[in-house]
Amino acid sequence: MTGFDDPAFYGDSWAGVYDEHHGDMDPAPAVEFLAGLAGDHRALELAIGTGRVALPLAAREVAVEGIDASTAMVERLRAKPGGASIPVVMGDMAEVGTTGPFGLVYLVFNSLFGLLTQARQADCFRNVARVLGPDGVFVIECFVPDLSRFDRNQRVQTHVVTEDSAVLELSRHDPVHQRITTQIITFDGGTHLRPVAMRYSWPSELDLMAQQAGLRLRERYSGWDRQPFDSSSRNHVSVYQRD
Ligand SMILES: C[S@@+](CC[C@H](N)C(=O)[O-])C[C@H]1O[C@@H](n2cnc3c(N)ncnc32)[C@H](O)[C@@H]1O
Repeated sequence: MTGFDDPAFYGDSWAGVYDEHHGDMDPAPAVEFLAGLAGDHRALELAIGTGRVALPLAAREVAVEGIDASTAMVERLRAKPGGASIPVVMGDMAEVGTTGPFGLVYLVFNSLFGLLTQARQADCFRNVARVLGPDGVFVIECFVPDLSRFDRNQRVQTHVVTEDSAVLELSRHDPVHQRITTQIITFDGGTHLRPVAMRYSWPSELDLMAQQAGLRLRERYSGWDRQPFDSSSRNHVSVYQRD
């Protein structure tokens, strides 16, 4: 497998700059929410990455394990304090190649949409259901698609312009495959491409995938602080449990 079809592609492309680019995202509200659900049970983070959420969750005495496809991302997790003691399975999160039971499985920061077909996302739900304990929950954090961001299925954003650099974000939207393909391009004397591809799903579509996996929606908020979810919400935190 090559390019976007390779599960390791995103992480291997981003690992060198991932923490620097996302340093302003505070994991504390997510950690508080997830720690409350995990209690004394084992927790599994799909797409654990560099441990942005898993490390502070483990510091709360939650027994966290992880799955990720990118060696480069997981090497960064392992190099951080506490990172080497978090068990991580290298593999595809759609397959959830680990044994449960887990009281909590979670997949944050839109990472479910890194599975680029509806079938792969549905596989992920099915395989999560397989490793959930009887009272276990599956938590996902995703954006609500906003197609008004695109003009004729294109979008150009200018993030940074300085005397000697610029950072542009170029995206194309495919409404049939529900796919957004983006390059974040840094010009600073050289040119650096950071690619991202996502297959978005609507909240109702995710609920149907859950239902087909034997799960049902228990709670949905527009953020980790349990803000109400409504038609103006831009993100959702959804909690699924066994039907
Ligand atoms: C946006 S990062 C999120 C990392 C971490 N969960 C966080 O919130 O900072 C996405 C992660 O998903 C991983 N990933 C992408 N596709 C994957 C797949 N099919 N299976 C496992 N991991 C995958 C990448 O390697 C990367 O670590």
